[in-house]
Amino acid sequence: MQDKCSGGSLDPTGWRDLRRDGHRMLDDMFDHLETLRDQPVWRAPPASQVSAIREPLPRAPTELRDVHAQFMRSILPYSSGNAHPGFMGWVQGGGTPVGMLADMLAAGMNANVGGRDHMAIEVERQMTAWTRDLFGFPRTASGLFVTGTSAANFIGVLVARTRALGPPVRDRGLAAIGRHLTAYTSAAAHGCIARAMEMAGLGRDQLRLISVDGAHRIRLAALSQAIARDRASGLTPFLLIGTVGTVDVGAIDDLPALAGIAAAERLHFHIDGAFGALAMLAPELAPLLAGIERADSLAFDWHKWGQVPYDSAFLLVRDEVLHRQTFAADAAYLRRAERGLAGGDWWPCDYGPDLSRGFRALKTWFTLKTYGADAIGRVVANTVALAQRLAARVAAEPELELLGPVPLNIVCFGYRSADADRLNAEIVADLHEAGRVAPSLTTVGGRTAIRAAIVNHRTAAEDVDALVTSVLALGRAARVLQDA
Ligand SMILES: Cc1ncc(COP(=O)(O)O)c(C=O)c1O
Repeated sequence: MQDKCSGGSLDPTGWRDLRRDGHRMLDDMFDHLETLRDQPVWRAPPASQVSAIREPLPRAPTELRDVHAQFMRSILPYSSGNAHPGFMGWVQGGGTPVGMLADMLAAGMNANVGGRDHMAIEVERQMTAWTRDLFGFPRTASGLFVTGTSAANFIGVLVARTRALGPPVRDRGLAAIGRHLTAYTSAAAHGCIARAMEMAGLGRDQLRLISVDGAHRIRLAALSQAIARDRASGLTPFLLIGTVGTVDVGAIDDLPALAGIAAAERLHFHIDGAFGALAMLAPELAPLLAGIERADSLAFDWHKWGQVPYDSAFLLVRDEVLHRQTFAADAAYLRRAERGLAGGDWWPCDYGPDLSRGFRALKTWFTLKTYGADAIGRVVANTVALAQRLAARVAAEPELELLGPVPLNIVCFGYRSADADRLNAEIVADLHEAGRVAPSLTTVGGRTAIRAAIVNHRTAAEDVDALVTSVLALGRAARVLQDA
């Protein structure tokens, strides 16, 4: 490649070969996406392919088409499978061809969306406007793209910390301020909340994990008691985190009640809506999220139910000033100008830890514009309908049992057996290796469960039925072996 580049630049002297290779790469990706259903959902990277990429730092150039051939041979066939219709593991979106194209355009622009006066910033602002309208936040609310909900929740915790202790905590640190902050969420909350407490220097032990009811929703009486107990001990409750779509079963906390408790106790009310928040796009599901508009901050992923390619998460903060006070800093090299490229009145680097930021907003904007938000809402509703179909099929099979409630798109179930925990773990590993469907494992009520999280727009009834048929076949085969 290098001998074909112009001067010191990495651009080619003639673009014809590059165009030809680029079109070929695009066609190969379209072929890949078009034939996804015919491919295995997952196959283990073979040692031969792993060793093929273990080479010394390539000092000399390689033809682009040869590097691409290696990608087609060694990398693409061994992906994590979440684009495939049979993928039901964890909670991961499928991506779309439109999102892929938009990501290519963003890479071509190579915009750094940390600040300054350019159009990528305006696209991110427009996305913020759409997002706050969708969730009923005020026009003054601020928003920011980040990598994932783990990062968005972390920023939410920092904003809440500023609210409790004031901006001086940034200079003086927690020890000098000398207040002992405590936060509250349910035992079903995602582990990234505890990690956010750690990373904020507040300590995971200061996060009270409140017990949940049979529907996996935070127990309100236990929550109020925990807050009262901490106040009586001289501690400072500062943050309440509700979940819309718990990671294990998809439960939605009682948001109006949590908003009421947060207001009465003067706590920052943050919602982790990693995947569940986008139920807002489906008219038949949106009423389940009533109260979300009362949150002080909301974290969620466009890359899960929104089907935007990884990564594209979002944080909304009701109080823009508080959000800004948590991150904005003066630095000569980031001085704002009255005019010119260093102008602009909204710089994302004032609202989060990142200064270098990619153009995540573009693939999200393209997805919403091209498909329309209603189509994404129909995908969300369809995945919930598929989960209900799966739950009904499990309930109808005497050899299977449901292991948790199914409020949204996640079904936890198992094959009945005296040795069920081990057997169901084996079944999931066998399913992965067979390559037709890929659920994941979790623990619900102390029991190992096969967890099907139906998120991908490509997943259809035939995939859900294949899951049931395959689990039954593997369970029966294990029983025959045991009896033999
Ligand atoms: C409820 C919940 N919160 C947080 C997360 C973490 O999100 P991310 O993987 O985007 O960091 C997840 C991931 O599935 C989740 O389900």
